[in-house]
This record gives sequence, structure tokens and C-alpha cells, in this order.
Amino acid sequence: MKPLLIVANFKSNFTLSESKNWLSEFASLFPRVQNLQRKIVLCPSFTLLPLFREFTDKNNLPFDIGAQNISSYPEGPHTGEVNGLQIKDFANYVLVGHSERKQFGEDESVISEKLNMARDYNLTPILCVQDETQKNLNAKILAYEPIFAIGSGNPDTPENAQRIGKILKTKYNISTFLYGGSVDMDNVNRFTAKEEIDGTLVGHSSLDPESFIKLIENA
Ligand code: PGA
Repeated sequence: MKPLLIVANFKSNFTLSESKNWLSEFASLFPRVQNLQRKIVLCPSFTLLPLFREFTDKNNLPFDIGAQNISSYPEGPHTGEVNGLQIKDFANYVLVGHSERKQFGEDESVISEKLNMARDYNLTPILCVQDETQKNLNAKILAYEPIFAIGSGNPDTPENAQRIGKILKTKYNISTFLYGGSVDMDNVNRFTAKEEIDGTLVGHSSLDPESFIKLIENA
């Protein structure tokens, strides 16, 4: 069984109390998957990062915590921005370049500033790409997420994801290639069975702890 990286992107979901319920249910189900070689990264909203960190540390759980975004500015007069130093208190990963961020004006130059910020603060970036034509992919972990597949129930084919993984791994110095976009407990192993695919970035199917555990079991 090859080791896999499984990243939950909760997007803009969960209140504090919903998060507490999610965490306690997930922790109680976790023994089912703890001996599988799966590294799990949970990416909640900024406001929930302290809770996820504290719960994970207190219960000695082997999850990693990630932020869903990072400011392209350091600390200073940038109202509403959350910078790398602040994130570093709670998380060790950060998603960068998710296609849903494009509506907030993120282009390639902002993405590259965010990658630099992540590195400056020792956060591991998970760089999202939408196809194989994107240039200057300066991150060790890439998540290929075609826009048509995100939240649509219409995933890419495992064969195409594998093809893109191969192209990008040949061109760039990538350690981990993830597929994301409508991954669920029923289709996950068709992706993870592919040689070039080292894990998955999961949105909708991570919101229910039982479904997420089944997805991890089936991966
Ligand atoms: P989805 O989202 O699993 O709900 O399609 C994936 C993502 O956008 O990260």
C-alpha cells in the first residue's frame, strides 16, 4: 500500500460548534484508519484554526492543519489580511492558488507572492493548478483541480489526471501530486491507484466525518 496525502478543504463551512462536533466524531472514527499509511491535513477557515490545532494537540492526533489562504503581505497595516506569521501559530500547510480564489482577484503574480510568503514562514504550500499548461510551478506539492470537476459531481478521468501528473512531474521538481475535484468514497481509489497520483484534495466529501473516514479507508 503506497503512502498517500489526503487533504480536507472545508472551504467556507462550519461554525465553532459544528467544528467541535466534526472533530469529536472524526477522532472517534479515526482508529479505523490510523494504521493505514495516510497523512491527513485538515484545512478549516482562519477563525477555526485555533480550535483544530488545540483539539489535535490535546488528543495527540497525527493530523496536520492547513490554512486555506495566506496574505501576500507580511504583518503590518493590511486590514483584513491574515499573514504567514499568524497562520504559523496554528498550521503547517497552506493552500495556494485555489481556483475559487480567482474571483477575489488572485492572478499568477499574487500566487507567486503567496508562495514566497508561505516559504518565509515555513509553511508548506499546496499549490492548486487547473491544467498542465500553468507555468513556474514552484512548489513541492501540487493539486491538479480542473475547474469543471470542482463541486460538480463530475470528476476528471483518473487516466487524464495520471497523464497530467506525469507531464508536471517530468517538468517540475514535484514530490507529491494530488488530484482534486468531486472525489468521493466511491471513486477515490480509481485515482489513488494511478502511479503518478500521491493523494487527493477533498472538498464536499470531507464535510461529513463518516464519509471522509470511508474515503480514507477506500483510498
Ligand atoms: P470538491 O472540491 O471535492 O467539493 O469538488 C475540491 C476542491 O475544490 O478542493
